Amino acid sequence: LGLDQDPDAISHATGRLAQFGGRVTLRQANFRDAGQVLDSLGILGIGGALLDLGISSRQLENGDRGFSLMRNGPLDMRMDPRRDLTAADIVNSYSEEELTRIFRDLGEEPASRRIASQLVKQRKTSPFHETIQLAKAIEKIVGRHGRRHPATQIFQALRMEVNDELQALQDGLLALASRLEPGARFAVIAFHSLEDRIVKNFFRDRSREFLDRPEWPEPRPNPDFQFALVTSKPVEPSPEEQRENARSRSAKLRVAERI
Ligand SMILES: C[S@@+](CC[C@H](N)C(=O)[O-])C[C@H]1O[C@@H](n2cnc3c(N)ncnc32)[C@H](O)[C@@H]1O
Repeated sequence: LGLDQDPDAISHATGRLAQFGGRVTLRQANFRDAGQVLDSLGILGIGGALLDLGISSRQLENGDRGFSLMRNGPLDMRMDPRRDLTAADIVNSYSEEELTRIFRDLGEEPASRRIASQLVKQRKTSPFHETIQLAKAIEKIVGRHGRRHPATQIFQALRMEVNDELQALQDGLLALASRLEPGARFAVIAFHSLEDRIVKNFFRDRSREFLDRPEWPEPRPNPDFQFALVTSKPVEPSPEEQRENARSRSAKLRVAERI
């Protein structure tokens, strides 16, 4: 069973996996709704789950989707086009404080406040509708330092806000963990530190058999104990893999096994 919230990914995978016939079922769905999808298929427990998070090369390379700061297109960034909120809506309607918060918290961008304040000024006369327009405006505000485009972190923040990525990850981890059968493995590939922190904490909090606090006379059983860690440190791509596939560079794989 494969889920993706992007209908284009589902139609692409349908063609690629056709040779497997009835062994594959694909559904356009957010993985936070995995429980409902499993219910609709009459599946109670699952023997394993893999979350391959973030954005795909297909999405990034299609300028019309609005994810790329190199290819011009509408400021969209929705992985699921049935949703309403686009990146343009955020840039043109969020308050300066809200923009600062998402640029800082989701983009980890040091110049968040300066960028937010300038964008709010500029949008009064020329609202932002296209990716290159926004990328150039940000480049003008912060200048160019190093090899990375100066708008990279802002684009990441907008994409994560549009798709509610961190909350969807929290919800998806819970939804899938509750359906894993004993011995089933849960593997998650994250592509940046905010995602990886959520995955790390999720597995850590559920792999401790006992909890202890200084004020307790003795350790108490952990009510959330349900996993054994398979990877205590994340698995990262080797230098060869990174050379062959530059986009694997930031990937971190964590795996836990349902007890
Ligand atoms: C890194 S790509 C991997 C795609 C696929 N595994 C492949 O190798 O081609 C991530 C995919 O996850 C999808 N995605 C991201 N967040 C999602 C969510 N909350 N629910 C469902 N799909 C999601 C994106 O639309 C994208 O197609």
